[in-house]
Amino acid sequence: LRGEQVIVVSNREPYIHAKTDDGIVVKRPASGLVAAVEPVMRACSGTWIAHGSGSADRDVVDANDRVGVPPGHAEYTLRRIWLSAEEEQGYYYGFANEGMWPLCHVAHVRPVFRESDWEQYKAVNQRFADAVVAEARSEDPVVLVQDYHFALLPAMVRARLPRATILTFWHIPWPNPESFSICPWRKEILEGMLGSTILGFHTRYHCKNFIETVDRFLEARIEHEHSMITFNDDETLVESYPISIEWPSDAERASWAPAPECRRRVFDRLGLAADTVLAVGVDRFDYTKGILERLHAVERLLEKHPEWIGRFVLVQIAAPTRDLLEEYQLFQQRIARTTERVNERFGRPGYKPILLFAQHHDHDALTEMYRAADVCVVTSLHDGMNLVCKEFVSVRDDEQGVLVLSRFAGAAREMTEALIVNPYHVEETADALHRAAIMPPAEQRERIASLRMTVRENNVFRWAGHMLADAGRSRLRQRIDER
Ligand code: G6P
Repeated sequence: LRGEQVIVVSNREPYIHAKTDDGIVVKRPASGLVAAVEPVMRACSGTWIAHGSGSADRDVVDANDRVGVPPGHAEYTLRRIWLSAEEEQGYYYGFANEGMWPLCHVAHVRPVFRESDWEQYKAVNQRFADAVVAEARSEDPVVLVQDYHFALLPAMVRARLPRATILTFWHIPWPNPESFSICPWRKEILEGMLGSTILGFHTRYHCKNFIETVDRFLEARIEHEHSMITFNDDETLVESYPISIEWPSDAERASWAPAPECRRRVFDRLGLAADTVLAVGVDRFDYTKGILERLHAVERLLEKHPEWIGRFVLVQIAAPTRDLLEEYQLFQQRIARTTERVNERFGRPGYKPILLFAQHHDHDALTEMYRAADVCVVTSLHDGMNLVCKEFVSVRDDEQGVLVLSRFAGAAREMTEALIVNPYHVEETADALHRAAIMPPAEQRERIASLRMTVRENNVFRWAGHMLADAGRSRLRQRIDER
């Protein structure tokens, strides 16, 4: 695909300009999607179209709403789309996050489908599709569509740029046909997605669910052997591409403080006793992440093994997200209450078993925290992939630290040397925390060294490389067919 124009479409933008008392500052959002796509974009330049969501976003763009990023040493173009309050409410909060998000995660939160949200969702998909067409310099750009905010956009772009190569990546799970069937606009969603040349999911299992859903609700031809769907004479390849992270460069590694130094700093800051076993959880403050179940597991650990009282601490970092939605507010309150209750029950003067930080933390702060920890706990109830577990192992060049990982995160398929748990099974998770806390350094080394090899090899460039190689093949075939 050398020399071809690449256009990315996502809701969340990679850089957010915000007004503060000290002037304009640039923030990075807490988003697995952005973390993964950004290094790929830096490598291939091009244009990234996204919702301009920062309070100073308008102050830094040119007359065409474009700004070069990363700020200060631009490598590609960010084209911002401005959404009205109604559009953001209906398309983003409403249909995407109250409808599609719980629908696809099946996390026992009821999806809400409002006609008015659907109307906004359609309209905003059209606005982004128009922006893709406006940014296209040829009739066949490579368009990388990201996630559940844009299920309709692939077919909209296909209608205007029939020769475009459209790669859609779905960053969240795809449910089984029964679960998906409750969506009132299931046919429209599927038809929209089938505008893609290639449709990517994290796992084979999600691909299989999608193909079965199409089989159930559309008149399409399905070639199971090649994972190919033909609908309205258009072909869509459905493939799994497990997403990943950028492996830390030598320069980045050189900037890290030694792990014992990170530990000393974190322990000093949090006032932890030197013999504390430190577990960390890092998530967006989202009900799919299993944070409540994690707190229950810590409580159960302290009940079963009172020897840990005073010596086991969970630091839970929870980055605020979508907090205009009631479901998220209720969830935050519930977590705060449970934290308080467990701390009252097992706390002592100078000791709390759970430290909850409901704030955004930047990359360096997280690196320090990961390097200071004995255990990293990822207990998602359902997660497309989850990149926290990959980030944790990537910064542990000391080959110490234990990963406790939910079997319902896509990452569990690759990261089998972790302690794999069913987060709904509190007893099992509590036992895994105990096992992690007493694991001998030699066993830690064995497990994490192997995990590091996996993530290093299956890094984000491999993810993008596989997708783009498939796209290249499909373009070649198209050219041959047209001869
Ligand atoms: C998940 C979604 C992304 C989203 C991110 C952050 O990773 O798959 O599309 O950007 O969460 O959520 P937010 O709603 O803040 O963009």
